[in-house]
Amino acid sequence: MKPVTVPHFIEAKRKGRKLSMVTAYDYQWAGLFDEAGVDGVLVGDTLGMVVQGRSTTLPVTLEQMIYHGEIVSRAVQRALVVVDMPFLTYQVSIEQAISNAGRILKETTASAVKLEGGVNQAHTIKALTNADIPVMAHVGLKPQSIHKLGSLGRIQRDKTQLLEDAHAAEEAGAFAIVLEMIPRSIAEQITQELTIPTIGIGAGAACDGQVLVSNDMLGLTPSFNPKFLKKYADLRKIGIEATRAYVEEV
Ligand code: KIV
Repeated sequence: MKPVTVPHFIEAKRKGRKLSMVTAYDYQWAGLFDEAGVDGVLVGDTLGMVVQGRSTTLPVTLEQMIYHGEIVSRAVQRALVVVDMPFLTYQVSIEQAISNAGRILKETTASAVKLEGGVNQAHTIKALTNADIPVMAHVGLKPQSIHKLGSLGRIQRDKTQLLEDAHAAEEAGAFAIVLEMIPRSIAEQITQELTIPTIGIGAGAACDGQVLVSNDMLGLTPSFNPKFLKKYADLRKIGIEATRAYVEEV
């Protein structure tokens, strides 16, 4: 079994092969997703919400991402593992960004980091890429900007800004780019214009790949029901029914 690498992501775009990604935070689920054949596993900072029960991703720390990133990387044999850089681990200075991203790669054995930003983080993406740290960029809705935006969940419609962000990320050296919550027509245009793969979430089917938060996709977050989200199972119901059966038997 050949492991998926950063060049494979770029090659997939060239060959028109779609890329599938899901988030994972622990050993068992990461191994299961890998066995099911996903191309990429993202250790997302959604960790803060789906695992820690917080209302935003902001409190997540570098140490927590490294802890979960190492566990996930150990479980995954084939898929490309990408670890999110949490809030304020790459925005303060280039030196800090390189040092923190370097720690992620060294201590987790993941292959790449992801950070939120386009034009505003192009200098950081460039510096990390120059240090041989592959970067997946993330534009459109940026959950770490929640206080600037006021709320999450709203579609980002500023076409000029979105195009500029996507091009800036590619020019700075990003090997792929997440497009979150943007109109499908803009996602399609970005996908056509860029040579690196676009990975959409709430951005339509024209992207080169898709990423979903696994807990949402598996039906473990019943109150989160955005239009784009397809639930492939209702594991919460199954878990409650199984536990009730156990309680009754006891
Ligand atoms: O943190 C995360 O899980 C993400 C996905 C929503 C793409 O960034």
